[in-house]
Amino acid sequence: MEIILTDELRSKLIAMAQEARLKAYAPYSNYQVGAALVTPSGKFFTGCNVENAAYPTGLCAERVAIFKAVSEGERKFAALAVVTSNGGTPCGACRQVMAEFGLEMVVLIADGEGRLHQETSVAELLPGAFGPGDLGK
Ligand code: THU
Repeated sequence: MEIILTDELRSKLIAMAQEARLKAYAPYSNYQVGAALVTPSGKFFTGCNVENAAYPTGLCAERVAIFKAVSEGERKFAALAVVTSNGGTPCGACRQVMAEFGLEMVVLIADGEGRLHQETSVAELLPGAFGPGDLGK
């Protein structure tokens, strides 16, 4: 089954990302982020940002969601929603990790109220991405 990104699925992903955001551990930045992704076969994974007193060791919500999915055997992703207070966009490191698993993934960028700010793709977020192909993979 190849999942179709309907408005219902968009809303579900954003709602799941909003819920995941409530679990964010962000005592240093106070900027809570939630993410939710769906595989082509319809499996869902969520993530939140997890900060650390040693600042650089924290991890973004998008990468938590992707790494959770990869650690469960998934490598293809149809769409990912990210929710922040103000509809902030994914950081460069998250864009690079997204690109590893395909440039076609749809990225939904929404705010804390669930309003969609932007619907884009990894290809648009990271033009000219360095990827597996550059290493002959
Ligand atoms: N953050 C994310 O979780 N995703 C992004 O794409 C941007 C930034 C987190 C990292 C840090 O915990 C906080 O937001 C402030 O940068």
